[in-house]
Amino acid sequence: MDSETKRSSFTGKIGFILAAAGSAVGLGNIWRFPYLAAKYGGGIFLLVYIILSITFGFALMVAEIAIGRKTQQSPLGAFRALDKRFSWVGILATIIPVLILPYYSVIGGWVTKYMFGFMAGSMGDMANDAYFGDYIGKVGEPIVWFVAFIAITTLIVIFGVQKGIEKVSKVMMPMLVVLMLFIVIYSFCTLDGAWAGVVYYLKPDFSHFSIMTVVAAMGQLFYSMSLAMGIMITFGSYMKKDISIEKSTHQIEIFDTGIAFLSGLMIVPAVFAFSGGNESALGKGPGLMFITLPKIFNTMPGGAVIGAIFFMMVLLAALTSAISLMETVVAVVMDKLKLKRWSACLLVFGACLLLGLPSALGFSAWANVKILGMQFLDLFDFISNSILMPIVALATCIFVGFILKPKPLVEEAELSGKFKAKKLFEIMIKWIAPVCILAILISSVLDVFGIVKI
Ligand code: PHE
Repeated sequence: MDSETKRSSFTGKIGFILAAAGSAVGLGNIWRFPYLAAKYGGGIFLLVYIILSITFGFALMVAEIAIGRKTQQSPLGAFRALDKRFSWVGILATIIPVLILPYYSVIGGWVTKYMFGFMAGSMGDMANDAYFGDYIGKVGEPIVWFVAFIAITTLIVIFGVQKGIEKVSKVMMPMLVVLMLFIVIYSFCTLDGAWAGVVYYLKPDFSHFSIMTVVAAMGQLFYSMSLAMGIMITFGSYMKKDISIEKSTHQIEIFDTGIAFLSGLMIVPAVFAFSGGNESALGKGPGLMFITLPKIFNTMPGGAVIGAIFFMMVLLAALTSAISLMETVVAVVMDKLKLKRWSACLLVFGACLLLGLPSALGFSAWANVKILGMQFLDLFDFISNSILMPIVALATCIFVGFILKPKPLVEEAELSGKFKAKKLFEIMIKWIAPVCILAILISSVLDVFGIVKI
């Protein structure tokens, strides 16, 4: 069987939105968004993010899905099929999941550990400020959980049971939303000082604005919506012609941004309540969710059970995203190296272990190793989100805007009816998005090399 047929059996012809939303909603929404929002000025970050999401995010997602559906190919083939000079964009887009999956699995490992921690009755310990730092500071345990997470992902992909997982997540995701709402309401009603956090999170304060707010928001947008790495192109290639690209994009966008918003609302005010809005607590970074949530659960009657259920749902959301990342890489490895599915999976598994190890050790044995002032996990995150994805996004915009021209993609989108935001799409993809992405790319590079401090 050729890989193309095998690939289509992955999400197959099951609901496109479900598969795309399963890929989009994950740690990016629940873990990454709140810590960025806390760090980059709360309300102003949220505002910038939402504006970018309904303009940039929308245009780019429509473009990617339409490219996939038009060419009926994965990113590697799609760009080549449309214009040989742009083959490299497909290649770059395929490299990005290889960089993300390993460190994604490190965080997935943290989630798994916390889930079992709640089940084992360690909630009291986990609610201590020092617990998370001590935990990731160990050499052995975080690696075991990281390997466990990537092993589960690999097994699911090897045995092709994604459909089962997607069915479970179809039920669990709405439950996750309900649970998050409950946690939000609970903390507003019971935690002193939470309202100050709500104001910080919802009210844009322009004095907190900097170019970095936009850089961070844009990187987050690509990451959260699984954009600029070919995943939506692949999904688009499975999408039936009579399904509306525009409507589906809106639905994914609303769902994805809604969950991110809710996660922020769950975490940022609680950080305020527990720290009084202390700057160092807001700037905690990747550990924020793991430090804050156990404290909330610890004040809740039945918190241990609720905490365990919550982390289980987060784990499931993380798994559906990790599966889509792995599936993309496996599909390319099968194509290019002419390998069978399971050998390709094992190869990707091995590569993930190797690439993820530095991120897992970056908080313990290799804590002193810094590249460009960053630990490995931050470095992988930075290279993929702030450098490579903007490059792919920029190239996609130039390609669609000037080489292919928006027209064929607009026509593709119109196959299922009127394309209401056609003008917005054309102007965004051709002018506004490329200019902004370029400006942002340059500023984040200048910033990290210390040439200009922004
Ligand atoms: N979008 C996923 C999330 O928010 C992460 C992801 C990125 C998944 C890229 C697949 C591809 O967690």
